Order: sequence, then structure tokens, then C-alpha cells
Amino acid sequence: MDYKVPKQDINTDPLLSKSPDFNRKSAVMKTDKVYKCEIINIVELTEFEKLFRLKIADRTERELFDFRPGQFAMLEVPGFGEVPLSITSSANNKEYIELCVRKAGRTTEVLHQARLGTKLGLRGPFGTSFPMEEMAGCNILLIAGGLGLAPLRAPIYWASENRNQFKEVHVLYGTKEPAQMLFTYQYGEWEKVNNIKLHTIVEKGDSDWKGRTGLITELFDEVTIDPQNTYVIVCGPPVMFKFVCHHLNGEGIPMNRMFVSLERRMHCGMGKCCRCMVGSTFTCVDGPVFDYWSVLNLKEAI
Ligand SMILES: Cc1cc2nc3c(=O)[nH]c(=O)nc-3n(C[C@H](O)[C@H](O)[C@H](O)COP(=O)(O)OP(=O)(O)OC[C@H]3O[C@@H](n4cnc5c(N)ncnc54)[C@H](O)[C@@H]3O)c2cc1C
Ligand code: FES
Repeated sequence: MDYKVPKQDINTDPLLSKSPDFNRKSAVMKTDKVYKCEIINIVELTEFEKLFRLKIADRTERELFDFRPGQFAMLEVPGFGEVPLSITSSANNKEYIELCVRKAGRTTEVLHQARLGTKLGLRGPFGTSFPMEEMAGCNILLIAGGLGLAPLRAPIYWASENRNQFKEVHVLYGTKEPAQMLFTYQYGEWEKVNNIKLHTIVEKGDSDWKGRTGLITELFDEVTIDPQNTYVIVCGPPVMFKFVCHHLNGEGIPMNRMFVSLERRMHCGMGKCCRCMVGSTFTCVDGPVFDYWSVLNLKEAI
């Protein structure tokens, strides 16, 4: 058989002159850089969660480290491993970053034993973020279940620091028990200084609990929803997304104005190892922040 090989010139053929981006280098720039950092403060939030304040050692690198609410970092505990963690501090803060860590397994247990001055490695920031600018001029509902308040804290800082850009800001927060509530020492500041309306609920109260008991969806009766002018961010266990977003969609909030953070087991954080894939989607690069419409179209995502 006679094959005709087309003449191709690497200098002129657009298909050959631009090599395919197999490794998604354009999307993962900066992400294999390890920043040396040191723990400069630790707050014990609950029995299982600690807040670590980290300072990047090199001043120039510290000033250049730039992230957006919703993004995460890979924290390396030398000799033990690396874990993905949402950046929970203000995106405006160039002095330090904060990570809220639940004691979940091997690496996070070692991290919980760390002291002030412990040296760690940090890669990132990674992934997609909440479109805070798009929400300007609207009401925002920030909804968290349990540890979900950690990724939600960066958007809360954003809303507080740009308070006049938003109409009503509500934080709806639910945990199983009062003792599991995170960042309780900041609630007064959020409400009184930043004019954020905080609504809390627990599944099971204790003798000191004077608030509401039940599921987070029960808090919707405290908020008047204006569907055409409201954006929503939901962080927490995926099972919560369905109930919360389904309810709000029923109230008329479009699916593409509700954003969730989808966490999967991750290894590289930069679209190389395929560990975090849901179907053909990399949750580390294409996520972790997705709008609810996209999540519903991701098979078995929630
Ligand atoms: C984008 C992203 C953001 C995250 N943000 C935070 C955060 O702000 N604070 C926080 O405490 N944790 C967060 N996590 C979860 C955290 O990464 C895991 O708890 C951690 O990797 C566990 O590591 P380990 O070595 O201590 O435990 P392992 O020994 O690896 O695992 C212990 C247990 O944790 C589960 N686990 C491991 N990795 C994950 C994961 N990625 N998601 C859910 N469960 C997991 C395992 O199934 C196992 O049951 C986040 C995860 C992702 C993907
Ligand atoms: S964590 Fe490696 S591809 Fe997403």
C-alpha cells in the first residue's frame, strides 16, 4: 500500500511548533516549589483540631506567596509525609498563613505534636478558588459543617475586609456537638465588628448549650433569601452539599451561584499522579472549588 506522508515543517506548522501541554505546566506553575517555613503560633481549637500559624522563612518568598480563598497548600512534615490543607487565613495577610489541622492519621498526628519553631515545608497554593469578586453587590451565605469552617474562614476574612462590597453576609455553621465548634473566639468579632450574622446549630447539645439543636438545613428559617441577589459557599462533608444546595436551589438560587469545596485524597496536588480524579476531572487542579452544577455533573462526586 502507498502512504502519502504530508510534508511538515517544525518551524511553520502550528501543530508542531507548539508542543502539547501534557504535564499541564501552564496550570501548575510554581507548585513544585517547596517553601521552608516555621511554626510561629499554635492554637488548640478542640480536642482534635489545632490552628498552626506558619511563617515562610525567606522574606521575598513570603511577600510573593499569593493565594485566594478556597485554595489549599501541601504541608510537608519532614520524614513523615505531606498533607493537603485549606489555607484558612486572610488572603490579604502577607506576614503568615494559617492552617487548621484535624488529627486524622499518621502525618497529622505527628503534626499535632509539633512545637513553636518546628520547621516544615509548604507547596502551593493549589487549585481553584471562590469567585469573591463576582459576588460583590450581592448577599452571601457562607455555610459550613464541622471542619468545613476551616476553608470557609478565608472567605469570611475576605467578606470582613471588603464588607462594604457585599449586602447581607450570613454564616451558617453546624457541628455534631458544641465542643466541636471551631474558632469560637472569633464569633464576637465577626458579628459586632464585621456585621456578619452568625447562625449556629448542633446535633446534640450539652448542659451549657443554649442555642438550637438539629441539622444545618433547619437554620434556613433564620435567613430571608433573595434568590436573584445571593451567592452561596458550602464547605463540609459532601453529604451536606446535596441537602443544602438542593434546598437553596428550590428557593430559586441558580446552581452556578452556589460553590462547594470538594476534597479527595491527594498526593501531588498538581495534576500528575491521578489520585484525586473523579471521572476525568482532577480535583486538585480543576477543583477543589466547583460550582454546584459542575459537581452534579461529576459522576459519584457527592
Ligand atoms: C483540598 C483539601 C483540603 C483539605 N483541607 C483540610 C483542612 O483544612 N484541615 C484538615 O484537617 N484536613 C483537611 N483536608 C484533609 C487532610 O488532607 C487529611 O485529613 C490528611 O491528608 C490526612 O493525612 P494523615 O496522614 O494524617 O492521615 P492518613 O493516615 O493518610 O489518613 C487518615 C484518615 O483520613 C482520611 N483521609 C486522608 N486523606 C483525606 C482527604 N484528602 N480527605 C478526606 N479524608 C482523608 C483517610 O481515609 C483515613 O481515614 C483536606 C483535604 C483536601 C484534599
Ligand atoms: S493529587 Fe495528583 S493528580 Fe491530583
